[in-house]
Amino acid sequence: MNTSTTLPAPAPDTVADEERGSIELRRVRKTYGDVTAVDDLDLSVSPGEFVTLLGPSGSGKTTTMMMVAGFEELTSGTVLIDGKPVDRLPPKDRNLGVVFQSYALFPHMTAAENVEFPLRMRGIRSGERRKRAEEALARVGLAGLGDRRPRQMSGGQQQRVALARALVFNPAALLLDEPMAALDKRLREQMQDEVKTLQRALGISVVFVTHDQDEAMSMSDRIVVMRDGRVVQEGAPEDVYAHPLTDWVANFLGDTNLLPCTVLERRGGVAVVDLGAWGVGRVLDRGAEGDAYAVSIRPEHLRFVDADRSENRATGRLLSSTGLGATVRHRLNVGGKDVVLRELSTGTRGGCPTDSEVSVGWSQDEAQLLVLES
Ligand SMILES: Nc1ncnc2c1ncn2[C@@H]1O[C@H](COP(=O)(O)OP(=O)(O)O)[C@@H](O)[C@H]1O
Ligand SMILES: [Mg+2]
Repeated sequence: MNTSTTLPAPAPDTVADEERGSIELRRVRKTYGDVTAVDDLDLSVSPGEFVTLLGPSGSGKTTTMMMVAGFEELTSGTVLIDGKPVDRLPPKDRNLGVVFQSYALFPHMTAAENVEFPLRMRGIRSGERRKRAEEALARVGLAGLGDRRPRQMSGGQQQRVALARALVFNPAALLLDEPMAALDKRLREQMQDEVKTLQRALGISVVFVTHDQDEAMSMSDRIVVMRDGRVVQEGAPEDVYAHPLTDWVANFLGDTNLLPCTVLERRGGVAVVDLGAWGVGRVLDRGAEGDAYAVSIRPEHLRFVDADRSENRATGRLLSSTGLGATVRHRLNVGGKDVVLRELSTGTRGGCPTDSEVSVGWSQDEAQLLVLES
C-alpha cells in the first residue's frame, strides 16, 4: 500500500542530526539609543564546535549572547539554531543551556532544586526531574551535594551547579558568558579543563565568552575577536595568534614587537619590506590591506643570530636580561627601537653583558605583515 500521501508531515521541531547544535547569526544588530552594541554581526557555529568570542569590555560579547539566548531582542538580523530561525521563540524554547553572570543560581533553592528548575519549566514530572538532576550533578563532580544551598558552596562548586543546570535538559548547545571570571586562577584553570572534557564527552557545541586571551587560546576550536560590536578577525587560536591582520589584534592577543615598514613588494604570500634601521627583510603576507603597515614579531620569534647573517637581521644593544624561570626576557634597542626577545632559559645567550652589541634576526614565516590602525 502506498502511504506517502497519508503520512503526517514531519513535526516542525524535527532537527536533522547534522544540524543539531548549529548556531548562525546573520547580520545581527543591536542598538541602544545611539550606541551600537552589536554591528551587523555574522557568525556561524558548527555542531560540536567550541567557539570563543574574545574582546575587551564593551565590545558586544554579552549583548550577542543575550540575543542568541533570547533575553534581548534584535534590532535587525536573524538568529538560527539547528538551522531554523528562532527570533520569535522565548528562551526556554531555544534549547540552549546558558551560564551567564546575570543568570545566577536561585539562593533560596538547593543545588538539586536549581538544577531541576529548567526541567520543571519544561513540565517534566518530579521523579524524572530528581533522577536527571542527580545525574547532571554527578557529571560535574557534585554527586551527593544536591541538598546544599548556594551559600553553603564554594564559588567553584556554585559554577558547577550552574553548569549542571545548563546541561540537565540535554540542550543543543551551551552559551557560557565569562563563567569563570569570579574564580581564582587555579580554580579557573581546573574548570577550563573540566568544561573542555565535558564538551568533548557530550559532543555539544559551545559559544564561550571571555576577555582573557589565555583562556580563549587554551579552550577554543575557533576564536572570534570582537571590537566595537564587530568581528575583526577569526580563526583557529594558533592561526590568529601567529597571523594577526592588524596591530590591534596582535597586541590584544599577546605581546609583540611592532616595526613600522614600507612595503616594497608583495608576492606569493611573502612581502619584501623596508624596516628603516632594521634594513630590508622578508615577512609573511596574509593579504592585510590598509593605509599604513608594520611587521609584527612575537618576542619568542625574535632570535639572537650571528653577525654575518645576510637576511632578516638587525644590530642593536642589549639593555637588560630578566630570568623568568623557564624563559629569559631580554630588552634590546635595535635601530632606535626598544624590542623584547624571549627565549628558553636553556638556550640562552645569557651571560652576554648588558650594553653589548647583539644581532637579532627573524624567520620569514614568523614575522607577519599587518595593518597599522593606531
Ligand atoms: N541595556 C543596555 N543599555 C544601554 N547600553 C548597553 C546595554 N547593554 C549593553 N550596552 C552597551 O553596549 C556595548 C556592548 O556591551 P556588552 O555587550 O555588555 O559588551 P561586553 O560583554 O563585550 O563587555 C557597551 O557599550 C555597553 O555599554
Ligand atoms: Mg560581557
